[in-house]
Amino acid sequence: YEHGLVDGRPRMYTEMLEQPASVERALRGRLDERFATAHLGGLEMDARELRAVRRVKILGCGSAYYVGQMGASLIEELARVPADAEPASEFRYRSPVIEPDTLYVAVSQSGETIDTLLAVEEIRRKGGRVIGLVNVVGSAIARACDGGIYLHAGPEIAVASTKALTTMFVGFALLALQLGRVRDLSVADGRRLVAGLQNLPAQIEQVLSTEDRIAQVATALAEAESLFFVGRVRGFPVAREGAQKFKEISYRHAEAYQMSELKHGPLALISPEVPTVAVVPDDELTDRNVAALHEIAARGGPLVVVTHAGVDLGELQAERIDVPRNERELDPLLLTVPMQLLAFHAALALGHDVDKPRNLAKSVTVE
Ligand code: AGP
Repeated sequence: YEHGLVDGRPRMYTEMLEQPASVERALRGRLDERFATAHLGGLEMDARELRAVRRVKILGCGSAYYVGQMGASLIEELARVPADAEPASEFRYRSPVIEPDTLYVAVSQSGETIDTLLAVEEIRRKGGRVIGLVNVVGSAIARACDGGIYLHAGPEIAVASTKALTTMFVGFALLALQLGRVRDLSVADGRRLVAGLQNLPAQIEQVLSTEDRIAQVATALAEAESLFFVGRVRGFPVAREGAQKFKEISYRHAEAYQMSELKHGPLALISPEVPTVAVVPDDELTDRNVAALHEIAARGGPLVVVTHAGVDLGELQAERIDVPRNERELDPLLLTVPMQLLAFHAALALGHDVDKPRNLAKSVTVE
């Protein structure tokens, strides 16, 4: 698994295309239709221990941290346990309080990221319980944790992470479902989520099949020196991941912002030269999101809207990318896939080697 083209195609591309299969693998044998729940044997925690969890703290770096934010929302929504994510690189430098009834979750593709590993060691030294969401079996983080969930994404070589991230999301959804079903989550909601998860591989395939359209949009975006990626609540970590991917391989300045915060400052930067990629799922915030898009359009800002079919954008002048509907809690995964394709095709249009982005390594093993 060395760098280089596979059948003439970049690794990042082949890894993006593998996502229906890798998500399928991440789900295999872990869903229980009868009891509308998930079973994660590797957690090594029984129902009583899961019920005793009062808080969840997720730690990861870069894109793993952004998926951690998606995971925190899933856990709060499905299990009604307070949850948040924090960059592992900052965690141990702020003298964190380690609580015995908090479940710590370390998330890492490589399992070798030094900042995440040191956070795990710090928590364990202070008596906390940490589980890992890790791709590489037997890696340092997997070994340092008290138990965990392997992602089964298969080897990921491209520096820009894609298939590992979508399997991380699945890992969090399974954890949230299992945690939810030993607490207050209803059988009906459990069933809804089980079915939603089962639909994901085919729906990812559907998003991938719109590649040509996304490539067209990306080629236009690549001309901008600077871009905004915006979203709210569930959509915000998607925007953060979109901006991250765009920066990594296109080398364009891409800044992620909460759509609701634009009017408190960054709106001053909107102009015909600064496009905005907006994540607008069909949810309880759609109307507010669309109103904010009009504010951007009124200032001449070009818009790309990643959304669901049926969302009414009114008279808005915008390039639109639709993804299939699933359960609202699972929206972030399907909204993330166009972000990968946008970054990939912008980088190709600019003539960059997407598999070897400048200044970056696949895993950061020194502080
Ligand atoms: C993702 O595209 C990045 N290359 C980077 O942010 C990465 O996710 C981060 O360094 C964490 O790596 P890990 O998952 O191997 O710990």
